[in-house]
Amino acid sequence: MAEILDGKEVSRVKKEELKKKIIELKEKCGITPGLAIIRVGEDPASEIYVKNKLKACASLGIHAIEKHFEGTEKEEEIIKTIESFNTDQTIDGILVQSPLPNSYDEQKIVSHVLSSKDVDGFGIMNLGYLLANQEQILAATPLGIIHLLDYYNIPIASKHVVIIGRSQIVGRPLSILFLNRDATVTITHSKTTNLKEITQTADILVSAVGKPHFVTADMVKVGAVCIDVGISRVENHVVGDMDFDSIKEKASFITPVPGGVGPMTIATLLENVYTLALKRKER
Ligand SMILES: NC(=O)c1ccc[n+]([C@@H]2O[C@H](COP(=O)([O-])OP(=O)(O)OC[C@H]3O[C@@H](n4cnc5c(N)ncnc54)[C@H](OP(=O)(O)O)[C@@H]3O)[C@@H](O)[C@H]2O)c1
Repeated sequence: MAEILDGKEVSRVKKEELKKKIIELKEKCGITPGLAIIRVGEDPASEIYVKNKLKACASLGIHAIEKHFEGTEKEEEIIKTIESFNTDQTIDGILVQSPLPNSYDEQKIVSHVLSSKDVDGFGIMNLGYLLANQEQILAATPLGIIHLLDYYNIPIASKHVVIIGRSQIVGRPLSILFLNRDATVTITHSKTTNLKEITQTADILVSAVGKPHFVTADMVKVGAVCIDVGISRVENHVVGDMDFDSIKEKASFITPVPGGVGPMTIATLLENVYTLALKRKER
């Protein structure tokens, strides 16, 4: 029976530690970390994610503001707002909530975030540093997964890590994070033909697909560490990609959904805001 990787509890511990550091930063340097969130359109999930981020910031003493665009504005207007946050000394991190409505060029808009304020680590500069194994600001979900494994002292070096999904926000950056930690990494995606054969060889299996029950127990090696990034709604319940009940009988560790990777993502985002605030004086 697998041990649960309790992202909710680990993120609570991490946020408590961070809260103390933020108080100290205010007292010693007079700096209140600041986060600006740009939301475009009316995607209901994005609205909830942003609300949760704002709430989490408030509980830790981070100054956070949301700028909401209806989705009818020109790209230039959003870019102008990003540029004003770029020069705003009270703002350390800028986040453009993904996805943007299809009518916008998301890459183009995000590329206007100054790399020293790129709290999501999605910018070309931060991705380049990651690839060069000179990690700076890292995407919150992948880094949150690494923090979770570290918290439970789960070794990464020399392990075979299989990642299902190659998105810009999860699969790709996560694969490099594992590589930088000396894992042997296989990335799979929708064009992979022999998925089951590959996942069966994983010491650490990560799924970031977004399809309920996509990963079944027969795809998992006995004793594997299973990380479920997926979030789907089924009959008003949030579920992951993994068939949790059957896989937990085979795995050594498993993340629940909800309560696994999700809370770690938020905690890591907040840590990123703090890290950028520490560098405020250098900007
Ligand atoms: N917990 C969190 O904090 C958090 C954070 C981010 C995302 N998520 C969740 O994680 C899931 C993935 O998010 P995302 O943004 O990475 O999604 P995405 O951009 O839609 O990427 C999904 C990936 O799954 C791959 N895929 C689809 N069908 C497949 C198949 N049959 N076999 C193998 N691979 C397949 C796709 O392959 P192709 O590239 O070939 O299309 C793609 O690379 C979603 O449920 C999302 O809500 C959770």
